[in-house]
Amino acid sequence: MKIRKAVFPVAGLGTRVLPATKAMPKEMLTIVDKPLIQYVVDEAREAGIEHFIFVTGRNKGVIEDHFDRMFELDATLAARGKKAEMEILARDQPEAGAMSFTRQQAPLGLGHAVWCARDIVGHEPFAVVLPDELVLNTPGCLAQMIEAAARLDKNSNLIAVEAVPDHLTHQYGICGVGKRDGNIFEVDGMVEKPRKGTAPSNLSITGRYILQPEIFNVLETLEHGAGGEIQLTDAMIGLAKKQKFYGVEFKGERHDCGSKAGFLRANIAYAMARPELRDGLRADLKKYLGK
Ligand code: G1P
Repeated sequence: MKIRKAVFPVAGLGTRVLPATKAMPKEMLTIVDKPLIQYVVDEAREAGIEHFIFVTGRNKGVIEDHFDRMFELDATLAARGKKAEMEILARDQPEAGAMSFTRQQAPLGLGHAVWCARDIVGHEPFAVVLPDELVLNTPGCLAQMIEAAARLDKNSNLIAVEAVPDHLTHQYGICGVGKRDGNIFEVDGMVEKPRKGTAPSNLSITGRYILQPEIFNVLETLEHGAGGEIQLTDAMIGLAKKQKFYGVEFKGERHDCGSKAGFLRANIAYAMARPELRDGLRADLKKYLGK
């Protein structure tokens, strides 16, 4: 199964990290020196994705600008001989025509955001990548999933999962576990944000999915679910009646950058993974830990 397109739902208001996100999209918050959205686009490119679909909303125009060329900046860097900076800008940018932007118009939930991309996705399997979750690993989480998908029936759907402590299962989509083969298992039921004590397992849905286009037919007719929103998990439950779903326990460290503590942890983890920053940061952290 060839996965060419990825959908990035980026219309969320980012209320968990206010006031940082009052005038700036949460997807533009920086981890070390790159905005979150750049990390997930890079992860998708590394996994072989060729077309990047952003489902945006009001005040998100800067995301589109970030992936555009800035003529004045390019010209100034060239005039000053700043080659390294020019290379970074060129490296980070998908080629012209490889990106599409559409608007969600109203905050009706993740399922609705994905549905907004239906015409741009068309009739082919596609990936969904949630930008506030980063997974630190090489190969990236999506590459691991695409590799797993290649070994499964071509009508399969896949979700990345990670074990979370039992007392946190109510914060996530959770899936039940069926037949297992190594780190891949058949999903046996899913539930969005189960009430405490009712989760079928502690395996939480991480923000990486590979879905068949039939998900749009289910989304089309879906009622509002948990939190009054149109939930992607509910659509997947509907599609699971007709198609197989597999959970992939991926390798790597998951960071929830949509929360303040997770965002700070991600900054430290990604900085420590950078050889040129590691030693200085370690010394600084020791200083603070001693306080
Ligand atoms: C969404 C999904 C949920 C998933 C989570 C991962 O929830 O609905 O199933 O576990 O992302 O971050 P949200 O965080 O948008 O409430």
